[in-house]
Amino acid sequence: MKISVFGMGYVGCVSAACLADAGHQVIGVDPVAKKVDQINRGESPVSETKLPEMLRIAVDSGKLKATQDHKRAIAETELSLIAVGTPSEPDGSLMVRYLESVTRQIGEALQGSTKPHILVYRSTMLPGTLNNIIKPLLAESSGRTPENGVDLCNNPEFLREGSSVDDFFNPPFTLIGADRTETFQQVARLYLGVNGPTHHTSIATAESVKYMCNAFHALKIAFANETAAVLHKAGADPRQAVELFLQDDKLNISTAYLRPGFAFGGSCLPKDLRALSAVADKGGVDVPLINGILASNQAHMERAIEAVLASGAKRVALSGLSFKPGTDDLRESPSIPLANRLVEAGVELSIYDPRVRMEQLVGANLAFLKKKMPDLSERLTDDPAKALLGAELVVMAHADAAMRQQLFAMPGPVKLLDLAGYADLAQKSNIEYQGLCWE
Ligand SMILES: NC(=O)c1ccc[n+]([C@@H]2O[C@H](COP(=O)([O-])OP(=O)(O)OC[C@H]3O[C@@H](n4cnc5c(N)ncnc54)[C@H](O)[C@@H]3O)[C@@H](O)[C@H]2O)c1
Repeated sequence: MKISVFGMGYVGCVSAACLADAGHQVIGVDPVAKKVDQINRGESPVSETKLPEMLRIAVDSGKLKATQDHKRAIAETELSLIAVGTPSEPDGSLMVRYLESVTRQIGEALQGSTKPHILVYRSTMLPGTLNNIIKPLLAESSGRTPENGVDLCNNPEFLREGSSVDDFFNPPFTLIGADRTETFQQVARLYLGVNGPTHHTSIATAESVKYMCNAFHALKIAFANETAAVLHKAGADPRQAVELFLQDDKLNISTAYLRPGFAFGGSCLPKDLRALSAVADKGGVDVPLINGILASNQAHMERAIEAVLASGAKRVALSGLSFKPGTDDLRESPSIPLANRLVEAGVELSIYDPRVRMEQLVGANLAFLKKKMPDLSERLTDDPAKALLGAELVVMAHADAAMRQQLFAMPGPVKLLDLAGYADLAQKSNIEYQGLCWE
């Protein structure tokens, strides 16, 4: 393919050299004359492992050249990769100035032409940027639409500086966020020599995944550093601890606990987080991340409470009282503050939980409940039909087989707020699925 790459920074230089290496004909575009000259001399403007050798071969073989002349580049190519910077504005928000100016330049260069052209945005941008800012700008500056040959997509970059050439050919996956299948197929041709699966997603999903990935990578590093600092202060060897921690691929290095749902609770996580915070505090170790976990959980609980109250339902059935399905443990269950707040707000609340039986409650569970929900026995039932009777809204903290069966058998429409990610319930025709609590 004949490709322009806009922005000869880290991402642009690596992409240009790797695409030329894969056999494409590439023109790099940058307003900085020094970078353009360096590339045309076969020198890399950025210092990056393996890049100088690759770039020289690409330039010597005639597969890669660079220019400041964007019009010439557009005239000679069928597709543009856009890798301009998206740094922070002074208030931390995303700076879209370079994205806007490059889009306007490309749009104007495409005006009046009938040649098809695809703009592939590799720059990192928040969900909504392409659809709300870039798409209208491209339509306005080019006077063209996908129907007459000009389309765009988001194709986030997953390379890491230092190993970016290897990462280019071995990404975790290739994501192409495109409205049209034809656009996806054309862009996918760029990556035929690249390993890993290729996914066609919506534009906003592709934009989002990049932010989830970067936030998670940063979180992992901060978590490793904070826990190491506090464990060291407590007298342990964090290096030994972390090696064992990493061997757990069931719960730690796995997909466990990574799907959005309801808040966490139970007899362990909140208490152990408090203990870590306390020992860090005593030892003078600053651990804002560990301290923030319970605050984050509380904020999520508030979202759930607000979502139920905002529904305006006066009669609500809550499915699941214990802190998670399959146990009767009520300690620090997020369903309890949820139930309390609904009752306080005057909601007529029934609660279904087949595990929690008043007569079997003893010890810490009983004490906890007496304090938190003294009138529970009047509301609690192990019969899903009884709990659902007359409910204007069903709130799913757990969904066991009996509750599902009962819901499916109801004539409907049953309004259902999903707290725990039971997305399959959305497929049932008698269920009016309200989504997860932030929707
Ligand atoms: N650096 C990384 O490792 C990495 C990894 C993944 C994604 N990203 C994302 O990729 C994007 C680019 O990052 P980078 O580190 O390569 O940026 P960079 O700042 O190194 O390079 C940006 C280049 O764009 C050029 N430019 C600005 N306006 C232009 C225009 N109108 N036409 C042509 N070129 C123009 C600049 O002169 C500069 O050379 C950012 O959105 C970044 O968040 C970066």
